Amino acid sequence: MLKSVRAAITGFGSYLPTKILSNADLERLVDTNDEWIVQRTGIRERRVAAVGESSATMAAEAGKRACANAGVDPKEVDLVICASITPETICPSTACFVQRDLGCKPAAAFDLSAACSGFVYSLSVARGLIESGQFKKCLVIGTETLSRFTDYTDRGSCIIFGDGAGAVLLQPTEEANKGIQYTVLKADGDGFDYIITPAGGSRLPASHETVDQKMHFLKMRGREVYKFAIEKMQWLMEDCMNACGLSVEDVDLVVPHQVNIRIIESATSKLKFPIDKVYVNIDRFGNTSAASIPIALEEAQRLGRMKPGSTVLLAAFGAGLTWAGAVIKV
Ligand code: COA
Repeated sequence: MLKSVRAAITGFGSYLPTKILSNADLERLVDTNDEWIVQRTGIRERRVAAVGESSATMAAEAGKRACANAGVDPKEVDLVICASITPETICPSTACFVQRDLGCKPAAAFDLSAACSGFVYSLSVARGLIESGQFKKCLVIGTETLSRFTDYTDRGSCIIFGDGAGAVLLQPTEEANKGIQYTVLKADGDGFDYIITPAGGSRLPASHETVDQKMHFLKMRGREVYKFAIEKMQWLMEDCMNACGLSVEDVDLVVPHQVNIRIIESATSKLKFPIDKVYVNIDRFGNTSAASIPIALEEAQRLGRMKPGSTVLLAAFGAGLTWAGAVIKV
């Protein structure tokens, strides 16, 4: 009888630029202060890409590190998926730059755009492609250079965002108690303008006017996003636990999108998750959109917060509006 195949995470990698942008640095740019930012978001500092660093260079480094962590030669990778809202170029995909850098020709390569939910969306797509038998070594990468799309005169948004990349390598396994157990993906396009980069696409191509009006930067309706995020994060955790028959006790670690410490604490405390079961690094990296969950996963694995056999719940939400969750057995 044919055994069913699951997609297991066999390697974790991340890349964070070395340059730090602290709250004190932001105080010099906009009318804000460290106390307000820490209280309202939990963020103390974030990373900013240096000249020469970009979404593809950071993604390739994170991907190489995930392969090294798995003991796999990057040349053996047969699929690269990059999730990003700050791609290397609009055309071609960031994933093609990464594939070139990894030297894994002719691996399939494409980008997936689902904003802060992009990594979990990509994980779900890769899971399906591995379970179908089409691919065997798949890099799923979240990568963002948000500093290049942030308006550093807008105090409502510039305090949030940071740069970085995180990656996982997925491979097939026949062990039922390992790998991705469940994924859920949702969207509501009515909320398209909650978080939006208004210009630079076919809807509003680049012009002098769009540049003058700063329409190539991310615009965010913070308060509305806040409410949406709390509701969806709680829903995602409940849905994941119900679908897999898990109680709070059965979950070893929740790795939420690093969006805002108040959103994370509010949603997890409503479900009575002790805070030591929730991975938080927003204080050091800010909100890195699609990169936030894989960066956190790599750190959690390296620091021993997840071990073989751990049950890990992922919950993400972002522009679109989109939201997505997953349950993985490490
Ligand atoms: N420094 C100091 N004061 C600030 C400020 C800043 N950086 N940004 C806003 N304020 C002020 C506002 O002007 C407002 O002043 P007022 O009461 O005099 O009008 C007050 O602080 C409260 O503003 P508000 O927008 O209600 O703050 P908030 O508590 O909602 O926090 C965010 C703002 C952006 C931190 C919060 O809404 C948030 O995190 N939203 C989620 C956004 C997100 O993560 N998006 C990414 C996509 S997943």
